[in-house]
Amino acid sequence: MNEHANPQTLSERADALEEKMMHELGEHIATKSVLFNLADGKVQMDMGADLKAKNPDKYFLMGADPRLPKMPDKPTLIDFFHNRFASLNHLLQSATHALKGGHSEKVVLACLLHDIGVTGFIRCDHGYWGAQMIEPYVDEEVSWAVRTHQALRFFPDPAVGYEYPQMYVKYFGADYKPEPYIVAEYERAKNHKYYMTSRLICVNDIYSFDPNAKVDLNDFVDIIGRNFRQPKEGLGFDNSPSAHMWRTLMWPTRFL
Ligand SMILES: [Fe+2]
Ligand SMILES: [Fe+2]
Repeated sequence: MNEHANPQTLSERADALEEKMMHELGEHIATKSVLFNLADGKVQMDMGADLKAKNPDKYFLMGADPRLPKMPDKPTLIDFFHNRFASLNHLLQSATHALKGGHSEKVVLACLLHDIGVTGFIRCDHGYWGAQMIEPYVDEEVSWAVRTHQALRFFPDPAVGYEYPQMYVKYFGADYKPEPYIVAEYERAKNHKYYMTSRLICVNDIYSFDPNAKVDLNDFVDIIGRNFRQPKEGLGFDNSPSAHMWRTLMWPTRFL
């Protein structure tokens, strides 16, 4: 469109868009947390008083965001897979690879969950976030492996045929060196009793995603059932140390 044909200034158009977004939420105002703005390169937050002044008839959203898929009252891990994790393919391909390799259910589960930090929460330090989310519900071997794959994936282990991923050379450049805290994590992990479980996440991590691979979450429902202690109250409502993380994922635009 010709810029001059539109009498609105850029900021007027941004305001109009903001209004439209809010309108789509009906009676409520959804707010973006600072972290969401940081990801856009802005150190900025929505000020409650300003938003309320612009929308005096509306209340802030304090629950489910109607733009997102509806979650049940007592959500399970499978509900998060279907309604909140942005991509399933990589996790399913990795877990399928581990299953076909004849590995233990703990290894298969670790592969299935290893990147939920990325697919459901945040990329930075995804192994740590993912491990924290699942820690109350899985064997410590599984959460330890998920946490530590953050570091191990940067270091080869020729004994099990794991090389530094070529994808990382392509993604981060040939000169990329892991930060000292990652090196320290690797050094601590090397002689740990669960080292191989975490290493097997790396070995089964599928770096080249095959869009035609046949994978199905249903193949893992039984393994999840046996190895993930789904709380009867629903994830987010069981007062576990990570319940708030699951609630945040469920209600990312809640005002408080
Ligand atoms: Fe990962
Ligand atoms: Fe991965």
